[in-house]
Amino acid sequence: MLPIIPVGDRLRIMLNGEIREIRAVWFEDGMVKLIDQRKLPANIEIFEARDYQKVAYAIKEMVVRGAPAIGITAAYGMAQAWLQKRDIDKVYQTLQNTRPTAHDLFYALNLMKRGIENGKDAVKLAENYANDIIERCRKIGEYGERLIPNNSRILTHCNAGALAVGDWGTATAPIRMAHRHGKKIFVWVDETRPRLQGARLTAWEMVQEGIEHAIIADNAAGFFMRKSEIDMVIVGADRIASNGDVANKIGTYEKAVVAHENGIPFYVAAPISTFDFSLKSGDEIPIEERREEEVLFCRDCRIAPQESHARNPAFDITPAKYITGIITEMGVFKPDGISKLRR
Ligand code: MRU
Repeated sequence: MLPIIPVGDRLRIMLNGEIREIRAVWFEDGMVKLIDQRKLPANIEIFEARDYQKVAYAIKEMVVRGAPAIGITAAYGMAQAWLQKRDIDKVYQTLQNTRPTAHDLFYALNLMKRGIENGKDAVKLAENYANDIIERCRKIGEYGERLIPNNSRILTHCNAGALAVGDWGTATAPIRMAHRHGKKIFVWVDETRPRLQGARLTAWEMVQEGIEHAIIADNAAGFFMRKSEIDMVIVGADRIASNGDVANKIGTYEKAVVAHENGIPFYVAAPISTFDFSLKSGDEIPIEERREEEVLFCRDCRIAPQESHARNPAFDITPAKYITGIITEMGVFKPDGISKLRR
């Protein structure tokens, strides 16, 4: 593995013989550049998207993933299309049809389209968008850290870290902040089948930050909760409806119910771009269902009988009643209090 050292808010990586400070996604030389998250942790490769079709491919095929990072990638994709004098409506449509659940994608695309229609410099707009979202996540870290006592053992699901945002993360921002301020933290990392974002990506981030952690099989969290080895849960979100219901990675719902059963606080961390106030409840959130091969295979190895089929919903809905608080850049809210954020 190439050496990566977190410095300030950025990851530092050795790239083509040079040490570079990078984010999970950035815009350079007219290209949208991304850490190829399909290759981590074994390889650090940079994926270069030269046009909007490649940007759409990167989102759909999960070269980049995580709601805020998808939004930032789409914003850069729009900026690139503007520079290349493409048909902006067509680019907007193409990027919109990549993944249906994460609200950040639509939030970023609408913001960019409005800006371009109003004659704004789309590259500056996309850069500002990326910086703004990352700064909002840093603030999530500040508010969220106050909820974390010293010596906490925190469970997280999937990857809501720097890779899912650009930097800081959503669920991991409070954890990183607490760690940097000297609190002793232990993180339980759900492996997160079928794409293993926990085992591959969150664990990798924990290693870079030097945060003590252990990966557990997805079905092990209840066991550790019952044994009082988990003090709190912090997860990210892909979309949050007006009533506080949350769409997040498949398996989140189960963790919330078991946390509730065991009296363990369950927090969701997300910036404003993830909130969809046009939806009354989580029942209205479109849930992506991905290819069955993601379940039937582990990497290139088929793990199921040739005759078997699979179902592969990528997200589930956690009802607001199971959520202790939603950590945002504007503070921590009870799910029934998020309407204040609308203003
Ligand atoms: O399918 P992914 O990897 O894009 O899904 C991402 C998640 O569901 C994350 O868990 C996350 O909480 C939302 S992004 C901060």
